Amino acid sequence: MSILVTGGAGYIGSHTVVQLLEEGHEVVVLDNLCNGSREALHRVETIFGKAVGFIEGDVRDRALLDRLFAGHAIEAVIHFAGLKAVGESVEQPLAYYDANVHGSLVLCQAMAAAGVYKLVFSSSATVYGPDAPVPYMETMPRGSTSNPYGSSKAMVEQLLTDLCRADARWSVALLRYFNPIGAHPSGQIGEDPQGIPNNLMPFIAQVAVGRRPELAIFGDDYPTEDGTCVRDYLHVMDLADGHVASLASLEESGVHIYNLGTGQGVSVLEMVTTFERVSGQRVPYRIDPRREGDLAAFWADASKAERELGWRAERGLEAMLRDTWHWQRNNPAGYQQS
Ligand code: NAD
Ligand code: UFG
Repeated sequence: MSILVTGGAGYIGSHTVVQLLEEGHEVVVLDNLCNGSREALHRVETIFGKAVGFIEGDVRDRALLDRLFAGHAIEAVIHFAGLKAVGESVEQPLAYYDANVHGSLVLCQAMAAAGVYKLVFSSSATVYGPDAPVPYMETMPRGSTSNPYGSSKAMVEQLLTDLCRADARWSVALLRYFNPIGAHPSGQIGEDPQGIPNNLMPFIAQVAVGRRPELAIFGDDYPTEDGTCVRDYLHVMDLADGHVASLASLEESGVHIYNLGTGQGVSVLEMVTTFERVSGQRVPYRIDPRREGDLAAFWADASKAERELGWRAERGLEAMLRDTWHWQRNNPAGYQQS
């Protein structure tokens, strides 16, 4: 298939591009590089040994999209492009709704004009909201959202659902990711957050490599086994494979929702101690107060993806942490050093 990957120079996008190429798909990447790196795609080319089509530009640029669809015989779009920092979204709601909602809207308009009706969308477990019982299942309704980032994901899910209801030519996969971590086993590409990492895994990795003195664990008084929050971490390579597998669902029109997780919960403290064991590095930490908006524990019921797509997360926690460390050790300053 010939696939447009928006946001393909970012963390999940770059890993997915590798797996799409491995499966024989043709890929064109559109990315404005606001949080992605051209170097990531150069390294994808090194891993795969073939050039990747790249267009630097914004998903909200309708004229650019029209030219892109006119110039390439695109059959499906995987839409990663967007902003993803929860805290920042509270401070800059307009920027988040613009990039995530307006961006998706313009993309769909351009797709329809070009006669392309197959779309895979990056959604998030956050759309289940704070009151859903665990494990989360796709049959559960979307819950309330507590920040503009989460609301933007829920809005785009609704937009795409309405679109499929109105026009049977559309087929859309809504992929609800749990917590992606890890890196390509080559150590060539990985997660490279700008500034202070918001997420646990890159923070641990930067402490281990000496870029930061210690990790702050946000709360140890949650109603979990060791008092720290529990999440469903999955390997970014498994997540990338999930995108490849989800393309099969686009053969049937309508909306197809899949949780992409392992089905296993792991606590923050377990993450730290397992990382220390796997990497041989010490990760000093202190306990800080709870972070506003964090839920105590959630994980996926990922059985629907296995049943319908034949996809299952195959890589275990040690592989996730080993590959994270391999990437971070080889690239202490991320992509910047090269
Ligand atoms: P990322 O920031 O590494 O990648 C996003 C890419 O999109 C970047 O390369 C960025 O430059 C690009 N981009 C942003 N706005 C754009 C625009 N308007 N036009 C063109 N390109 C644009 O993030 P990621 O972790 O790879 O996440 C990819 C997607 O998955 C996002 O939509 C994110 O919300 C979603 N998601 C991520 C997680 C996670 O934990 N990483 C969890 C759930 C959902
Ligand atoms: N944590 C720390 N210290 C840190 C960073 C995180 O203790 O420096 C803790 C958090 O309190 C939380 C856990 O580590 O308990 C995981 O936090 P992350 O920020 O890595 O991940 P979240 O589960 O908060 O959020 C992630 C994505 C969101 C997405 C959500 C659900 O960042 O975009 O998963 O998919 F919405």
